[in-house]
Amino acid sequence: MAITIQKWLLIILFLHIHVLNIVAQLPDLRYGSCGENGNYTENSTYKNNLNTLLTSLPSKIDNYGFYKASIGQNIDRASVIVLCRGDVELQECRDCVHNVSQKLVQVCPNQKEAAGGYDKCMLVYSNESITDTTTFSKLFYLNEIQNASKPGEFNKELGKLLVRLRVVAAHGDPRRKYASGNATGPDFQNIFALVQCTPDLPPQNCFDCLTKAYEDMINCPCMGKKGGRIIGARCSFRYGTSPFFRLDVVSVAPPPEEEGGDDKTVRTVIIIVGPIFTIIIFIACISVVMMSRRN
Ligand SMILES: *[C@@H]1O[C@H](CO)[C@@H](O)[C@H](O)[C@H]1NC(C)=O
Ligand SMILES: *[C@@H]1O[C@H](CO)[C@@H](O)[C@H](O)[C@H]1NC(C)=O
Ligand SMILES: *[C@@H]1O[C@H](CO)[C@@H](O)[C@H](O)[C@H]1NC(C)=O
Ligand SMILES: *[C@@H]1O[C@H](CO)[C@@H](O)[C@H](O)[C@H]1NC(C)=O
Ligand SMILES: *[C@@H]1O[C@H](CO)[C@@H](O)[C@H](O)[C@H]1NC(C)=O
Ligand SMILES: *[C@@H]1O[C@H](CO)[C@@H](O)[C@H](O)[C@H]1NC(C)=O
Repeated sequence: MAITIQKWLLIILFLHIHVLNIVAQLPDLRYGSCGENGNYTENSTYKNNLNTLLTSLPSKIDNYGFYKASIGQNIDRASVIVLCRGDVELQECRDCVHNVSQKLVQVCPNQKEAAGGYDKCMLVYSNESITDTTTFSKLFYLNEIQNASKPGEFNKELGKLLVRLRVVAAHGDPRRKYASGNATGPDFQNIFALVQCTPDLPPQNCFDCLTKAYEDMINCPCMGKKGGRIIGARCSFRYGTSPFFRLDVVSVAPPPEEEGGDDKTVRTVIIIVGPIFTIIIFIACISVVMMSRRN
């Protein structure tokens, strides 16, 4: 009798561990690279500083999906910048930032510098003073494979849309320097675009950063394609022929605090039930052992 119960408990324990493992797997980055500043050493102050910054990120993110900080002096100084896309709600933003920070550290073990992101958030960390510079510096180009039809006209319409959005992002809500919109290109192609700056940039710097990013389009493999992105640490833009952002986003109201999606509910249940379950199994195992000893 006792043996069958023990076996049954072992099977449950095994399944339980596996469920947790599946949950812990991080999705691949949408884009990322490890920088060129080499590795830090195992016990270094830099490593400590960087760890402190990265572990606190999800809780430090403000309501508008932004955080930047530096810790340390001179060669030990570590800096981070994180930014969620302007239409992403706070909880999703935190999850995204949590994932990207863990994933980047996995992909770039011991690297002083790295940058990368998912569709909804991006993270840069470095031993250079990235938090002080406000100008455009290109990090990533992304492009779709398909050509736009009539690329010349397409780009002209895209250009007009981007110029319109740049003004809204730079001079609109100062806490969320984000704008999205759409236009109609040649052959009735829809063009959707979004532009964003880190909200700490003054309006003029945001405007200038986006201007530089647009000018960089001639170097981007996305030129003439149906979709593309130019991503910098301080500003970026993205365009495509189908919607990839929330069309209804209100740029003034703060995002609602709680909105339990299905995924989240499942995860929460596992997180809460997991440890309790382990304790119950532990107690059950002990009782079974005691009972069989008594017999
Ligand atoms: C940095 O560390 C990684 C793995 O820990 C290693 O593959 C790489 O060669 C190191 N790079 C340098 C420049 O030491
Ligand atoms: C790092 O610290 C550990 C324990 O504190 C020590 O054993 C190890 O030798 C140190 N490594 C370096 C490279 O200083
Ligand atoms: C960052 O690290 C690289 C490589 O170790 C070094 O050459 C550079 O001077 C460092 N930058 C700063 C600001 O300390
Ligand atoms: C974060 O990673 C978990 C798996 O660990 C995944 O279920 C979740 O969808 C990811 N969230 C985001 C926003 O990337
Ligand atoms: C896109 O257009 C270029 C020339 O502008 C052409 O060389 C290429 O084959 C086209 N690619 C596709 C996928 O149609
Ligand atoms: C923008 O997209 C919406 C929804 O797809 C569409 O109804 C509207 O006509 C588009 N506006 C322009 C100017 O293309």
